[in-house]
Amino acid sequence: MPSQLKLTELISEEALSVKVREIGRALSDKYKGKEVVAICVLKGSFMFYADLIREINADVVSEFFGVSSYQNSSRSSGEVRLTLDLHSPIEDKHVLLVEDIVDTGLTMNYLQKTLAARKPKSLTTCALLLKPSCLKVECHVDHIGFEIPDEFVVGYGLDYQGYFRNIPYIAQVEGLI
Ligand code: IMP
Repeated sequence: MPSQLKLTELISEEALSVKVREIGRALSDKYKGKEVVAICVLKGSFMFYADLIREINADVVSEFFGVSSYQNSSRSSGEVRLTLDLHSPIEDKHVLLVEDIVDTGLTMNYLQKTLAARKPKSLTTCALLLKPSCLKVECHVDHIGFEIPDEFVVGYGLDYQGYFRNIPYIAQVEGLI
């Protein structure tokens, strides 16, 4: 039961909001006077995405992409499945991909390949969190919020078995890894 798990705060609400503003400023400079299709990778990035796009001063079109790799465990299954496709083509558009966390890198790698195959004009990637010690495949991320140790984290959209997405800060779940 989630109430029996011990959570320890790792990144505060304030630190998150400072970082989101910083990434938002960089993206506003990049997309000044342009239109960008901002892709929210469901479900984990919905909160980061909602905050980030409000900091981007450009013409933003929202799209949602569903992928699943964990299937109720705290370790990646290594298999990425598309659960929801984009609503519209992205060919010849500036595309911004917004992910919650890069762990093994398999999901980001899959997303980059899948989107690049659709021939966008440009593809920029950002992830709120990166666990550098867990990377198994090479994947380039243009904007990273925080590098964190190999700990399972929840909150600010990230879940454990569907729980804790509503916690407004990033917390480490004790005893899972
Ligand atoms: P990867 O394919 O191993 O890089 O995993 C990426 C996906 O796994 C992320 O988009 C998250 O949904 C999920 N994930 C990885 N690490 C964590 C974590 O510590 N907490 C919650 N979800 C995680």
